[in-house]
Amino acid sequence: MIYSRIVSTGSYLPPRRLTNADLTAELAAQGIETSDEWIVERTGIHARHFAAPDVTCSDLAHQASLQALASSGLQAADIDLIVVATSTPDMVFPSAATILQHKLGITNGCPAFDVQAVCSGFVYALTVADSLIKTGTAKRALVVGAEVFSRILDFKDRTTCVLFGDGAGAVILEASDTPGILASDLHADGRHKDILCVPGTVSGGQVLGDPTLKMDGPAVFKLAVGVLESAARATLAKAGKTDADIDWLIPHQANIRIMQSMAKKLKMPQEKLIVTVDQHGNTSAASIPLALDSAVRSGKIKRGDTLMLEGVGGGFTWGAVLVQY
Ligand code: UT7
Repeated sequence: MIYSRIVSTGSYLPPRRLTNADLTAELAAQGIETSDEWIVERTGIHARHFAAPDVTCSDLAHQASLQALASSGLQAADIDLIVVATSTPDMVFPSAATILQHKLGITNGCPAFDVQAVCSGFVYALTVADSLIKTGTAKRALVVGAEVFSRILDFKDRTTCVLFGDGAGAVILEASDTPGILASDLHADGRHKDILCVPGTVSGGQVLGDPTLKMDGPAVFKLAVGVLESAARATLAKAGKTDADIDWLIPHQANIRIMQSMAKKLKMPQEKLIVTVDQHGNTSAASIPLALDSAVRSGKIKRGDTLMLEGVGGGFTWGAVLVQY
């Protein structure tokens, strides 16, 4: 049996950091009223990072990938598959993954493509890469979640613009005799496509429709709590494990209240919940690998630990991946 194992992780946050006080002051200048108290109480977010105007998704992905490569001891040329999870790629096409391949100087012709499943993107991308490793198509995959959500925010809409941030996280997966990725469970339900979307598109040389993020927060909240639990339970069942086997819970970092309720449902102490939403905000497909890398680098996550990764977002999409690190 071939498994895929996480060899290393990396991440990158653009240097411009805005605390709630910074953002609140900027919004007040535009006549938009919000407060640190509201943002912290409703979401747990204290700060987020925004990329400079000339910095793209693939730039963030590149920095995170370089860090993952440096930690792996591998060379860029050793990578034989690149999957980037993003909803904010550099351009309509080519994919951020092929641009990343070029920036990394990889000329071995390995497949490179983007996965678009919004905030579930990283669990989707990890599952796709795991499958390609298991079938022998790839041996060493670079899997990245990278976003510049600041580009698609409507800074006149206080119900969304305080929630999101930019960043990237990366993992290198390698074929191995031992696990690895233990199981995963992916889902989508397009009936809920309108509760979280960027409805605009490009046509005839123009942007048609609204190119900024729209979210019915309470509807997303309600759905997220239910589907995250069912995906986690299905993943545990596929792996023959129980709640008690999970060492660390790494959910999509959107709202501390959703994350804490997940830990409770899985009967996990809150100390076993990896939290970066307070410092990063919601970085969509980048949030899980950013949280994973921060917990690996801080020494919380150790080799052999069992990790439950959970994503949920626009589409509506959701899923979970159980990993033995
Ligand atoms: O990444 C994909 C997954 N996304 C998520 O998981 C997000 C899920 N949803 C949420 O996290 C929460 O629904 C939000 C954080 C988005 C909103 O929290 P909420 O507790 O559901 O608040 P709400 O939308 O029901 O709004 C409550 C009040 C409203 O005022 P009224 O109508 O009660 O007078 C809003 O107008 O809070 C008001 N409000 C704000 N006030 C100050 C909304 N945004 C703000 C703001 N500052 N930024």
